[in-house]
Amino acid sequence: MRKPIIAGNWKMNKIRPAAVELAQGLVDRLKDVSGVEVVLCPPFTALREVAKSIEGSSLALGAQNMYHQPSGAYTGEVSGPMLVDLGCKYVIIGHSERREYFKEDNALINLKVKAALSYGLLPILCVGEKLFEREAGKAEEVVYDHLTGGLEGIAHEEMSRIVIAYEPVWAIGTGKTATPEDAEAMHLFIRKTLTQMYDRELARGVRIQYGGSVKPGNIDVLMAEPDIDGALVGGASLDLNSFARIVRFEANS
Ligand code: 13P
Repeated sequence: MRKPIIAGNWKMNKIRPAAVELAQGLVDRLKDVSGVEVVLCPPFTALREVAKSIEGSSLALGAQNMYHQPSGAYTGEVSGPMLVDLGCKYVIIGHSERREYFKEDNALINLKVKAALSYGLLPILCVGEKLFEREAGKAEEVVYDHLTGGLEGIAHEEMSRIVIAYEPVWAIGTGKTATPEDAEAMHLFIRKTLTQMYDRELARGVRIQYGGSVKPGNIDVLMAEPDIDGALVGGASLDLNSFARIVRFEANS
């Protein structure tokens, strides 16, 4: 079945010494963990050092963003081949902070997803509604739009290499987590949408992470839900003890 995937999105935090300390600490603390895929997504500036720190371990490296062009006059941007060169396996695409602060839209996100796949990177495509959209009863509509827009033109065999992260914007960094029931309902909706877009078998195989104030205190109940296959963790991924505990979730408790 689906292998759980827990990713730490460090966002714009940690210069290299702190990044190395955390990565080395996690390698040590998670040595015996199997059955869960763990991905560290440090800022671009620390990718190489973290890659070296986790070499030979089961931890994987991911980037937080990329540009879709392979090279050229795009001042300030980082391309897929550059991420591959640094040892990245995953790349987060379409995070709500990219959508909000950097005005990324579905069309650009779709180009990025396609480019990532073309370089052999595995995209983590983020979808999720804002508070006013949820309050207006439009949460599913927004998630549907993010999914169909972000995945436009993605073939069946490519889809099996994509992870979806459901991150309700109102739960990010606010301490407000979606209830496990609300998160499960949206994950089920995402799986239904993927069934419509592709087929049932593919939809059953796609891993869907939950993100938004995931902490050691709520990971177990979230992971106990049948359609929650992992977490995309922000704040709590910056702390060794918290992230190590999240990776060691107990889905049955
Ligand atoms: P927090 O865990 O800090 O709420 O962030 C979630 C997130 O945006 C992960 O990508």
